[in-house]
Amino acid sequence: MALSSQSYKGTRDFYPQDMAIRRWMFDRMRQVIQRYGYLEYDGPLLEPFDLFAAKTGEEIVNQQLYWLIDRGGRKLAIRPEMTPTLARMVAARFHELAKPIRWFSIPNLWRYERPQRGRLREHWQLNVDVLGGDPLLADAEILTLAVDLMKTFGGEQNAIIKVNNRKLIDHFFGNVLGLSADAALKIVKVLDAKAKIGEEAYKAVLDGIGISADQKDKMEKFFSSSFADVSRAFKCVGTDELNALFDFLAQSGVKGESVVFDPTVMRGMDYYTGTVFEMYDTSPDNRRAIFGGGRYDNLLAIFGNYKLSGVGFGLGDVTMQNFLETHGLLPKIEPSIDVFIALPAAKYRLAAEQVACLSRNEGLSVITPLGVDGFSQQLKLAVKHGAKFVVLFGEAEFAEGKAIIKDLLTATQEVCVISGLHLRLKELAVAKAKGG
Ligand code: HAM
Repeated sequence: MALSSQSYKGTRDFYPQDMAIRRWMFDRMRQVIQRYGYLEYDGPLLEPFDLFAAKTGEEIVNQQLYWLIDRGGRKLAIRPEMTPTLARMVAARFHELAKPIRWFSIPNLWRYERPQRGRLREHWQLNVDVLGGDPLLADAEILTLAVDLMKTFGGEQNAIIKVNNRKLIDHFFGNVLGLSADAALKIVKVLDAKAKIGEEAYKAVLDGIGISADQKDKMEKFFSSSFADVSRAFKCVGTDELNALFDFLAQSGVKGESVVFDPTVMRGMDYYTGTVFEMYDTSPDNRRAIFGGGRYDNLLAIFGNYKLSGVGFGLGDVTMQNFLETHGLLPKIEPSIDVFIALPAAKYRLAAEQVACLSRNEGLSVITPLGVDGFSQQLKLAVKHGAKFVVLFGEAEFAEGKAIIKDLLTATQEVCVISGLHLRLKELAVAKAKGG
C-alpha cells in the first residue's frame, strides 16, 4: 500500500511560501531583539526526561510529553518548552557567563495536544529571557521588549498584555482562603486551563477540592477586582511588586492600555514565582495567548546550588500568525528571485552559465531552467518562479554579442551587451528595490 503524503497530525509542512512567512515573522522579531542586545542560543531537541519532570508542570509532563527510551536505556523527552534547557545551559557555565544574561532562541517544540486553532503538536516558539539584574528593571525590560515586538508588526493596538504576580496568588489562596499549597496549586492549574476545559469541568474540579461557598464567593470577587481594590484588600509582596512594576512602566511610557492587571492570569508551569503575564489578541477569533511568560527564582536550583532569578516569555508562531492574519498585518510574501536566464537553444548554454555566475557574484539571485525549451514556456516558468527580470538570448542579438533583458513587472525590455549584462541587471535590481 502507498504511504500517506500527509504530515503527522498537528504538524505542518512548510512549503516555500509558508517558510517565507515564518522567516519573515521571526526575522522581524530578531531585528527588535538584537536592538536590546540579546544573544541567540540553541540546544538539543532531546533532553533527559527528568529535566521537564522537575518543574514544567503536571499537564505537560503527564499528558503532552513525547518521550522515548534510547538504545542505551535512557529515558529522554522531546522538548515541549525551552526554559529548562536554558536553565541547564546557564547552570553548566554559571561562573563564566557575564550577568545579566540576555538570550533568545527560536526552537521547535513538541506537545501532544488536540490540534485546534492556535494549538498544534509542533510549533516554533520565540523565547526571550534575562537572568540576573534587578528584578523590577528586568521585568520592565522584558515587557517593554514584548510591546516593541508587537509595534514592529503594527499590532500594538490589537493586543493586550495581562499581568499578575504568583506571590499575590499564593497570598490569596494560602493566607486569605486558607487553602493548602496542594489545593491552591490545583486551583491555579484548573484556572489556567479554564478556557480550554470549559465552565462545567472547572466547577467539577473546584467541588472535588472541597471549596466552600464562602471561598468560592471570595474567589469570584478577587477575580473580578480592579488592581486598586486588590492592592488595598490583599496587600502583600506580590501587590508591592506589581505596584512598583506598573509605576515604572507608566513612567517609562509603556504601561497604558496595552499592559493591564489581570488576577486570572496564572500560567501553567510550576517554576514561576513572581510576575506572570500573557498577551492576548483583542479579537475574539483568537482566544489563545500569543505569548506567555514570567519570573522564575528557583529554576536553576534543580542543577545544584545556583542562585539566579530569571524572567522571560515564549511566543508561538501559530498564535502570532493567526494574530497577524486576523488584523491584516501579514503582507503577501512570495518567494522571489532576481533573474531568470531563459535557454531557448543549447548553443546559449555556456553564455547563460557565465552571465549567471557573474550576476551571482553581484549578489543577485539567479536561476536557469536547466534545460532547453521554447520562449513562451520559459517566460511562463520565469513568472511562476517570481523572477523580476528575464534574460533572453535571440538569434539576431546574440550574433552581435548582445541579449535582451525583460522586466517582468513593467513588461519593458532593453538590449544589452552580454559582457555587461550582470552589471546592468544589478543596476536594474537596485533601482527596483528602491521602488524604481
Ligand atoms: P507557554 O505558555 O507554555 O510558556 O507557551 C508560550 C507560548 O507558546 C504560548 O502563548 C503560545 O503562543 C505558544 N504555544 C505553546 N504551546 C503551543 C502549541 N501546542 N501550539 C502552538 N503554540 C503553542 C512556555 O513555554 C514558557 N517556557 C515560556 C517562558 C520562557 N517562560 C519564561 N521564559
